[in-house]
Amino acid sequence: MAFLELLNVDKSFGGVKAVHNFTLTVQEGELAGLIGPNGAGKTTVFNLITGLYPVDNGQIFFQGEDLSPLKPYEIIPRGIARTFQNLRLFARVSALENVITAYRKCQYSFLEALFHAGRWKLSEAEARKRALELLDFMGLADKALQAAGTLPYGHQRRVEIARALALEPKLLLLDEPAAGMNPEEIEDLNMLIKRICTNLGITIIVIEHHMELVMEICDCVACMNFGAKIAEGTPDEIQSHPEVLAAYLGEEA
Ligand SMILES: Nc1ncnc2c1ncn2[C@@H]1O[C@H](COP(=O)(O)OP(=O)(O)O)[C@@H](O)[C@H]1O
Ligand SMILES: [Mg+2]
Repeated sequence: MAFLELLNVDKSFGGVKAVHNFTLTVQEGELAGLIGPNGAGKTTVFNLITGLYPVDNGQIFFQGEDLSPLKPYEIIPRGIARTFQNLRLFARVSALENVITAYRKCQYSFLEALFHAGRWKLSEAEARKRALELLDFMGLADKALQAAGTLPYGHQRRVEIARALALEPKLLLLDEPAAGMNPEEIEDLNMLIKRICTNLGITIIVIEHHMELVMEICDCVACMNFGAKIAEGTPDEIQSHPEVLAAYLGEEA
């Protein structure tokens, strides 16, 4: 049984076939890359996996379970977390508070949080401790108390990953995590992504627009264009694949 399996998935918006007959298999422990030109359908694939949009056709299996009929709030507890292409942090609160919020989300109902129930206080300390550990893992221990919005862009992206990790996922979906970063920040980020996979044992799919950015860390890469998968293989195979090169050349033109 594959860890994650998308089978002949379709998704259209009006007349636009955002994802078309898309099939993808990811094995447990893999670090997979999903690349392709702008508008290829990459983000839509994440939106389908996380249940943000229902599929038109096809099926998505996670650890053998069909996710297609489930809503996002039912999918997250099954162990799937994501980051977004555009940052979605609470800019005015601390990096730490941003991560703690994710712990609260997983553990408490709104009413429990509102009335500070007994187990809330106990777990609040635990959540704080774990959030600090996560920020430390992401190399941000000394930034924990700074307002997230005041951190350099690359650090904000890492806070967002820490927040996704607080949901304790088995599968982590990263949507263009390197966007807007300088080469040095990208190098650091790549090492962190690799460590999340290897040290924390979390399976990862990382979307990247610029294919060279993920090539050195991914075990396998799939390339999309116009909603369809046009190639998949090892980074070496993908980098020299004629259809992949043509897709990127077409975009430049
Ligand atoms: N919610 C939506 N409503 C309408 N069109 C959408 C929506 N989401 C994506 N699309 C369209 O689907 C196509 C694929 O988009 P997307 O998945 O965001 O591509 P990528 O992430 O590869 O750049 C694009 O043509 C985009 O405009
Ligand atoms: Mg996108």
